[in-house]
Amino acid sequence: MRPSSFDEFERSMWSGQAEIFNETMAHLCGHTAPALLSAAGDRDLAGLRLLDVGTGSGTVAGLADARGARVTAVDAEPSMVELTAKRVPGAEVRQAILPELPFADATFDAAVANFVINHVGDPAAAIAGMRRVVRPGGRIAVTIWPHPKPEAQRLWDEIFDAAGAVRPADLPRLDPALDFRRDQAGLTALLAGAGLTGVTGTTISWTMRIDAAAWWSGPAAGIGLTGLILAAQDEPTAIRVRQEFERRTAPYRGPDGILAVPTAALLAAGTV
Ligand SMILES: C[S@@+](CC[C@H](N)C(=O)[O-])C[C@H]1O[C@@H](n2cnc3c(N)ncnc32)[C@H](O)[C@@H]1O
Repeated sequence: MRPSSFDEFERSMWSGQAEIFNETMAHLCGHTAPALLSAAGDRDLAGLRLLDVGTGSGTVAGLADARGARVTAVDAEPSMVELTAKRVPGAEVRQAILPELPFADATFDAAVANFVINHVGDPAAAIAGMRRVVRPGGRIAVTIWPHPKPEAQRLWDEIFDAAGAVRPADLPRLDPALDFRRDQAGLTALLAGAGLTGVTGTTISWTMRIDAAAWWSGPAAGIGLTGLILAAQDEPTAIRVRQEFERRTAPYRGPDGILAVPTAALLAAGTV
């Protein structure tokens, strides 16, 4: 399948970013890992043949491995593959790009994708690709960020707006014909549309606790749409963004510099 420009943008955005992702945003993404794994195999994970798609720096793969699953982890980005192979030596780790997964039909008991379906150009095809490699009766569980955005993600918009940051005109957009609603109903419909049965959806709400410097350094290194917007600003605007970041995160900051900001994710799961 020919990658869309959205996918090509994703490849360039994650290129060489494994270490910085691991030190910054992986912390935020990792919160949902236990719930994701429970949704994928609500029995003991021991011996479960589990595929972690878009493994990033291997947070979910590592947790599943520690709980006794037989883990295979894939990511489109070579630096993520390399880092996860080091961090989770018990897992088989290789490069693969959704929706194409280099495994025979029905290879796994379960497949999970933690904050990955929001990074693919064709979400329905991505779920169908995961479905193909899971055995009948096996489980698929995914998380995404919701829209409207939760407070932590909205804060960045407020920072950009207050600093007068202009959004680049060429931000990558998903083909509207392939998009889905980023709410519980939209995500469960995406899974049901791929033929999964008994699909359930939940919203996971929590308070993100992160070092303020670490939360700045992800976008500052170009990670995510926030990073792309930041990189597009001229120097005076970038300085104002930094000042607004300090000002607007101050109410969330504890004496140790750790931010405590409410956020939320959507989790959906179903049976093949
Ligand atoms: C937000 S990170 C999440 C990483 C990890 N799941 C976690 O929870 O920490 C998204 C990951 O998805 C990967 N990714 C994006 N598009 C992908 C695709 N089409 N196929 C496989 N991996 C993809 C990126 O390279 C990146 O590592």
